[in-house]
Amino acid sequence: MDSITVKGWVRTRRDAKGFSFLEVNDGSCLHGVQVVVDAGVPGYDILPRCHTGSSVHITGRLVPSQGSGQKWEIQAARVELVGEADTSYPLQKKGHTLEFLRTIAHLRPRSNLFGAVFRTRSRLAFAVHRFFQERDFVYVHTPIITASDCEGAGEMFRVTTLKGNIDEKPESDFFGRPAFLTVSGQLEGETFACALSNIYTFGPTFRAENSNTARHAAEFWMIEPEMAFCDLQGDMDLAEAFIKAMAQYALEHCADDLAFFARFVDKGVFDRLRFVVERPFERVPYDQAIEILKKSGRTFEYAVDYGLNLQSEHERYLTEEHFKSPVTVFNYPREIKPFYMRLNDDERTVTAMDVLVPGIGEVIGGSQREERLEQLRENMRRHHLREEDYWWYVDLRRYGSVPHAGFGLGFERLLMFLTGVSNIRDVIPFARTPGNADF
Ligand code: 4AD
Ligand code: MG
Repeated sequence: MDSITVKGWVRTRRDAKGFSFLEVNDGSCLHGVQVVVDAGVPGYDILPRCHTGSSVHITGRLVPSQGSGQKWEIQAARVELVGEADTSYPLQKKGHTLEFLRTIAHLRPRSNLFGAVFRTRSRLAFAVHRFFQERDFVYVHTPIITASDCEGAGEMFRVTTLKGNIDEKPESDFFGRPAFLTVSGQLEGETFACALSNIYTFGPTFRAENSNTARHAAEFWMIEPEMAFCDLQGDMDLAEAFIKAMAQYALEHCADDLAFFARFVDKGVFDRLRFVVERPFERVPYDQAIEILKKSGRTFEYAVDYGLNLQSEHERYLTEEHFKSPVTVFNYPREIKPFYMRLNDDERTVTAMDVLVPGIGEVIGGSQREERLEQLRENMRRHHLREEDYWWYVDLRRYGSVPHAGFGLGFERLLMFLTGVSNIRDVIPFARTPGNADF
């Protein structure tokens, strides 16, 4: 049989009399390959230095394994130690806590869990593009540096080259005005939807939210489709189809890694994904959701009342306990939503929608946009926004305005939902959270 080559990192080494076993993994899949090195094989003498974490280059023959636990193994003809790792290598075979692994974020991709998470992340990123490209959505790269606060929540990171008091002379700053890292590509995305009809963005997003929770990061990746000639109904339909497609893709293309999550992270992962694929999501208007919460007999930490935002505990009650299903809540009170959402005929609510899923709460936020010039101006006045700051956005309502709608899906929250990994810090390669920008 032809010789084969394996290059990877040693997970474990076991020595017996006259031969040694190496388990080598190169990250291409969850399982490593067992290598048998007989005494006398070139390189056998360096095996004592092949500790866990060392990189090796093996050539040999693939043969049916005599041991249990693997079908095939490599009978080494030659072993080369490429890079030694001594016994201080922090990632030893024993199980480590997730907290510890976060402190070695540069090495944790070599662990089973993080290999599985980041292979899944990569495949799902491809699935996102496939989903939209198959539907002829155009991928638009919206800017990362921006002057406009899309969400109006005042959670933007300032970008400046000024020293000292940066508010003194903003006109002498790099861009001649205050500039920030974007919280959403939506506003720029709308301009492209009002030209190319169906578009999407997929890029990094930044929020200076000082909330140290398991589902907030200061830097995360968001997917934002925007559709011209589309209303809230069409928007909710796309959001649902999108999440279903992502669950289906994971089932089809990440089965090994999902099986690992099912064993070590979240027993219910396969049932949950199949449920999501098979069953329609629930839909409920905001005012009914409030009634459900009021009648729940639960004492929540945060108050429940018409006109108040749904908190994570409320969202999770609705999706995990009441509906036991993903649920889309729509038509929120205008007071608690951004200026760009379309006012409903009741003049109290706007065409907002949030998709809530078990274990996470909100995974998608979206809306139909206000396409009527006068109404948009009125919304901006209410939100104390100056029209001249958004003149180009307002122009879209002046020249060939169309009903349009879109949403934003937090990619890390989707990954948490699909894998069962319960902290956002563990589904992004290098997490940025308040007080932490290491690596
Ligand atoms: O609900 P959000 O704020 O909506 C928007 O930004 C709209 N402009 C989207 C649109 O209509 N095009 O954010 C959208 C999603 C949330 O549902 C959540 O999944 C995620 O982005 N998200 C975060 N993910 C991680 N960390 C944070 N700090 C997040 N903030 C929002
Ligand atoms: Mg939201």
